[in-house]
Amino acid sequence: PRTAHIRNFSIIAHVDHGKSTLADRILEKLGAMGERDKRDQTLDTLELERERGITIKSTPIRLEYVQEGGERYVFNLIDTPGHVDFNYEVSRSLAACEGVLLLVDASQGVEAQTIVNAYLAIDNNLEIVPVINKIDLPAADPEGAAAELEEVIGIPADGAVFASGKTGQGVPEILEAIVKHVPPPTGDPDAPLKALIFDSFYDAYQGVILFVRVLEGTLRPKDAIRMFSNGKDFEVDKVGTFTPGLVVGDSLIAGSVGWVAAGIKDIHDAQVGDTLTSREHPTDEPFPGFKPAQPVVFSGLYPTDTEDYRKLREALEKLKLNDAAFSFEPETSEALGFGFRCGFLGLLHAEIIQERLEREYDLDLIATAPAVVYRVTLTNGEVFETQNPAEFPTRDRITLIEEPYIKLHVMLPETYVGTVMQLLQERRGVMETMNYLGQHGRVELIYEVPFAEILYDFHDRLKSISRGYASMDYEQIGYREGDLRKVDIMVNNEVIDALAVIVHDTKTYSLGRKIVDKMAEVIPRQMFPVPVQAVIGAKIIARATVKAYRKDVLAKCYGGDISRKKKLLDKQKKGRARMKQFGTVEVPQEAFLAVLSTE
Ligand code: GTP
Repeated sequence: PRTAHIRNFSIIAHVDHGKSTLADRILEKLGAMGERDKRDQTLDTLELERERGITIKSTPIRLEYVQEGGERYVFNLIDTPGHVDFNYEVSRSLAACEGVLLLVDASQGVEAQTIVNAYLAIDNNLEIVPVINKIDLPAADPEGAAAELEEVIGIPADGAVFASGKTGQGVPEILEAIVKHVPPPTGDPDAPLKALIFDSFYDAYQGVILFVRVLEGTLRPKDAIRMFSNGKDFEVDKVGTFTPGLVVGDSLIAGSVGWVAAGIKDIHDAQVGDTLTSREHPTDEPFPGFKPAQPVVFSGLYPTDTEDYRKLREALEKLKLNDAAFSFEPETSEALGFGFRCGFLGLLHAEIIQERLEREYDLDLIATAPAVVYRVTLTNGEVFETQNPAEFPTRDRITLIEEPYIKLHVMLPETYVGTVMQLLQERRGVMETMNYLGQHGRVELIYEVPFAEILYDFHDRLKSISRGYASMDYEQIGYREGDLRKVDIMVNNEVIDALAVIVHDTKTYSLGRKIVDKMAEVIPRQMFPVPVQAVIGAKIIARATVKAYRKDVLAKCYGGDISRKKKLLDKQKKGRARMKQFGTVEVPQEAFLAVLSTE
């Protein structure tokens, strides 16, 4: 078959186990040095992504591998995002492959993300090529890491390739293992078209560019195509491959990975995970597992300057063009005025969008604390989902409250099991499994935990109590009942709606305390004392006071130094930009995120 010499694969690993370094080494070996930079430029990679060293798009690269004997292979390497916020995108990219390189750092061994990623690969029936990486490190224990892989995931240790992305050792063996162990794609080029969309981006000239894996049939320019989930029709403009810039080709046959431009104007019409088929000869069944992108974390974004409302809306619209997982709708707050309720895949996604709004669109924003989506059943039988704590109904109108849960995987050394279990208990976690893993004294904990409980500072806490040794990963598993309350915050005796938080009944007092203390610390002092209170209904559960004091920055300047005086004034002005005035009290951005501050 024509696809016998194609290999579609991806590299999966725990964060920092050396994925990017090894990928670069493979590119270099296959004569594609510097291509990564080129790709960064072609594929609209965000400056932010590069700066932070995170990938949020799944970008394929087409490589040519010539064996010793002269056999030529086409390798499609699909780079996947490395953050839990984008796990669905990762699972779709894996579905576009036949195999994966599962990388494990030889000095660290199997970590939580190694396990979760390996299961994603197994769920997609992929061939796993285990690679024990960083064997050049003095602390490397390649045999130990391979044995751990076998024990934890059941991947035979003797099949592992030992390698180093740093020195290039083992890379030729990896290339051979790909040819030998990753099966070539199958699929009938004459069958009705079935192609999986695994990523996309928006191009101002060509519209949405879809990244697809053709499973059955052939895609050609001028083909009439249809989106399986929503029945929308388009005509193919161009198809092609990635090397890694977009290269125009004649067709994409079953088994290949490539891109399609079809004059699609709205990225929401062609979502990741959906199946592309032919209008005339549609496939009977879509590729399984399509889930429309669903934001799980919501936050209110308000311009500090009300004049910027329109500018903010335009910026949000632009960002949404290229991001089907991001949502926003207008929202009004008594305290903050006109703004938008924005939905994200997780906190990292939220941070990225906020940072882009501030940097690329030059907006000053107040963001309310991120919240999960609660499901509330009212006494009249009505069920609705609320993403905004301010809208949470009063207790007497509710029969049932449900909140989102995750399944959390934690890997850690035995020594820290006690402390970590205590932390998980504080976060209302329920243990599902605990596995002791052989001689290395490592333990895997699997818990079900309310998503809201790990949203803010859980990862930092886990790292600090385990001296950096514990790792984690998680997946959403649906809704469970929860005894939750709305806690309101009053500043100077007035409720500020945008500060409301939803809290579990057992934590209202401690959280209320934490918030008011933090707020009293960050609200600038006034001529008069300002009370800050946490209340449930009419009941005050915590109280703190911003002491009276006149802050005069210029007093420090002793009159003389003009430039220093100016600097201080500028600094104060900048600080002011991110404040909101409530009567005479100014509340800074920090106060809105008081709930996020660590204990
Ligand atoms: P994320 O993109 O954050 O998921 O990380 P990654 O898995 O892509 O890891 P990356 O390639 O950025 O490497 C992480 C760190 O390990 C970097 O400091 C690398 O220099 C180092 N590193 C990567 N491969 C090797 C290796 O083979 N040997 C040694 N000694 N260090 C390595």
